[in-house]
Amino acid sequence: MARYELVKRSVALITLTNPPVNALSSAVRHAIAKSMEHALNDPKVTAVVIYGENGRFCGGADIREFAGPLRGPPLVPLLDAIEAGEKPVVAAIEGVALGGGFELALVCHYRIAHFKARLGLPEVTLGILPAAGGTQRLPRLIGIPAALELITTGRHISAQEALKLGIVDQVTEQNACEVAVEFALRAVAKPLSSRRVSTLTTPCPPDLDALLEAVTMQVKKKARGAMAPLACVQAVRAAATMPYSKGIKRESELMATLFNSGQARALQYCFFAQRTAGKWTLPSGAQWNNSKPREIRRAAVIGLGTMGRGIVVSLARVGISVIAVESEKKLLETGKQMVIGMLERDAKRQGVSASLNLLKFTLSLQDLKDVDIVIEAVFEDMALKKHVFQELSKVCRPATLLCSNTSGLDVDALAGVTDRPHLVVGMHFFSPAHVMKLLEVVCGPRSSSETIATAMSLGKRMGKVSVAVGNCPGFVGNRMLKPYLDQATFLLEEGATPEQIDKALEDFGFAMGVFRMSDLAGLDVGWRVRKESGLTGPDIDPKNPPRRRQGHRYCPIPDMVCEQGRFGQKTGRGWYMYDSPGGTNAKSDPLIQNLLEMYRSRYGIQPRNISDQEIIERCLFALANEGFRILEDGIAARPEDIDVIYLFGYGFPRHRGGPMFYASMVGLERVLERLEHYHQAHPDVPHLEPSPLLKKLVACGSPPVQNWREHIKTMHSHL
Ligand code: CAA
Ligand code: NAI
Repeated sequence: MARYELVKRSVALITLTNPPVNALSSAVRHAIAKSMEHALNDPKVTAVVIYGENGRFCGGADIREFAGPLRGPPLVPLLDAIEAGEKPVVAAIEGVALGGGFELALVCHYRIAHFKARLGLPEVTLGILPAAGGTQRLPRLIGIPAALELITTGRHISAQEALKLGIVDQVTEQNACEVAVEFALRAVAKPLSSRRVSTLTTPCPPDLDALLEAVTMQVKKKARGAMAPLACVQAVRAAATMPYSKGIKRESELMATLFNSGQARALQYCFFAQRTAGKWTLPSGAQWNNSKPREIRRAAVIGLGTMGRGIVVSLARVGISVIAVESEKKLLETGKQMVIGMLERDAKRQGVSASLNLLKFTLSLQDLKDVDIVIEAVFEDMALKKHVFQELSKVCRPATLLCSNTSGLDVDALAGVTDRPHLVVGMHFFSPAHVMKLLEVVCGPRSSSETIATAMSLGKRMGKVSVAVGNCPGFVGNRMLKPYLDQATFLLEEGATPEQIDKALEDFGFAMGVFRMSDLAGLDVGWRVRKESGLTGPDIDPKNPPRRRQGHRYCPIPDMVCEQGRFGQKTGRGWYMYDSPGGTNAKSDPLIQNLLEMYRSRYGIQPRNISDQEIIERCLFALANEGFRILEDGIAARPEDIDVIYLFGYGFPRHRGGPMFYASMVGLERVLERLEHYHQAHPDVPHLEPSPLLKKLVACGSPPVQNWREHIKTMHSHL
């Protein structure tokens, strides 16, 4: 777990050897303690270098160990002892120095970083704080404002930025270990007292209180209920106002509160869920580690609308050449200008020139003969998409992968019109596609494992979090959205307002409540889908009982809003009003209040007071309930996949872990009991009827979410 050797006759080289990231597991901590003791006691040793094997200094504490009791030597006394030692210790940082790894570097008397190394204190993203002295040492080293920013955001910084901030002493393009050994030899004769960061006085700005207050407000606004960022500010305040010995105690108290909170468990679950999601498996046995993706060098995107433009940008950013196709000259020109604009803004930010030579814009599908992959992003219209896929089948070479960005249509029906159904797969990006991290890879029954592997790996290359899902209307994310949206509109009928529902959801932690989110996405999209599926529009049978469609409860309020030309932000009016079309500042609109009152009186609905608890339970338990059905149907392989989709695609608060983890934290028994209660009150809403899988899990004693897989395995899988 750590190799000890003597180099250059007097330098003890301690190399952490815990692949893949040299995390500080109990065994590694033990090995460091032993090696340091040896080095400090051996008279031959004049200096020490700490290094990480395989070009990675250290990825911090072993997060897997957080679930159990602490074993092995605790980190704080171990690090204090390294700093207090009488021989100079130099950190040779390659790859990453994160969390406890960064704190290990901070107790070394000198830090040498390779120019490609990245450093940071990402603990806040795991619901905790840097509790091995990080919150006390970093402010002493670089001052309060810079330390606050790094600790409360968890941002990784480059070696160059670390040098500028005064975190590292030297950046090198050579082997950091060799440079550090030479550096250590030169440091032997120098006094160490000023190099012990914990003994430094924290440089404090004169307006400390005002600064901390301002940062607290800022962090509170951004944290949306997450506790860790606020605790980080409190810990840094201690570094500014207390001696190290007291500050470290404060750090430890704050850590204890966070560590035992549900939020830390949720955020750590998210860390592993995100990594689990990439590990797809098909019933055939083909999976992520035995299926080889194809190399993609040339791509094509069809349709340069909202989605197509973002997809082109995402591909070009990673060096893939793209041919973009539109149906009309004017649209092609508009799309081209927008794509170029986005890439130029990117390049300006990074101080490089935009990779525009990778792009080609055309009106002709004939230009796509030689591409490796096509991603179609034309209107959501099955007949149009089928036509495009038929044409692609004729034009593209037989090995070209054909993908659709459809948000919910049958991917297998598209495969069926091609000459290569095994090479067809859904690649469902989220809007705006060059920003949003989620990609649902929709596997049809005929998609080959190589095709899936290629789509998943292309997503990863584009910086997306790719999740493999099965083929059904709406796939995972949009399928679950329906019961969530339905509950919100039913609550409007019963007496709530858009403002009240949005506030309850935003207080829960969502980036945006459901109505503000719908205004942003555009209300006309859902309206068109409802018309196409026979739920609304002029062709509806007039004998249809009001507020019922296809045998179930139906809320026509969203249709009424659209009938008034209110499509959300783009028209300046939706569930809210905006200063102008395209405006983002949502204000309550009395016209919506009137519409709701008239609607209720028309249908004789007596509005009632609805609690925030009911809003959360009905919206979120209905959401999770559909998640259970999706697992039952084999459309998602694991609850982690569903949670990752909601975290990265729908603004679900990370500190709640995702809808399925949240349900498990509330307690499956409680979720079942509330769903039964609401279903009894609203028997004409099938989404509120508890799913068989939820009942089964409760009957099995409500196992933790990581163990649901055992119960799902026996079910039919479409993946
Ligand atoms: N503990 C345990 N496992 C870890 C880990 C850690 N700190 N960091 C990474 N891993 C595991 C991952 O789960 C993954 O495992 P699988 O292969 O089984 O899925 C494997 O290492 C590789 O990780 P990535 O897929 O993420 O690899 P990458 O090359 O894309 O990224 C990384 C590497 C930047 C180090 C990234 O893994 C990362 O950000 N890790 C977490 C770093 C972190 O948050 N450290 C702080 C820990 S808390 C702490 O340190 C507090 C304290 O002092 C007490
Ligand atoms: P859009 O209406 O903004 O753009 C579609 C573009 O396709 C238009 O510019 C149109 O001219 C072009 N087009 C139509 N027929 C064409 C043809 N035969 N050849 C070339 N170009 C053609 O639509 P948007 O929003 O970009 O949606 C595209 C697809 O992405 C749809 O399937 C949609 O469901 C899906 N999607 C949309 C999301 C969104 O938030 N807008 C999110 C995720 C998926």
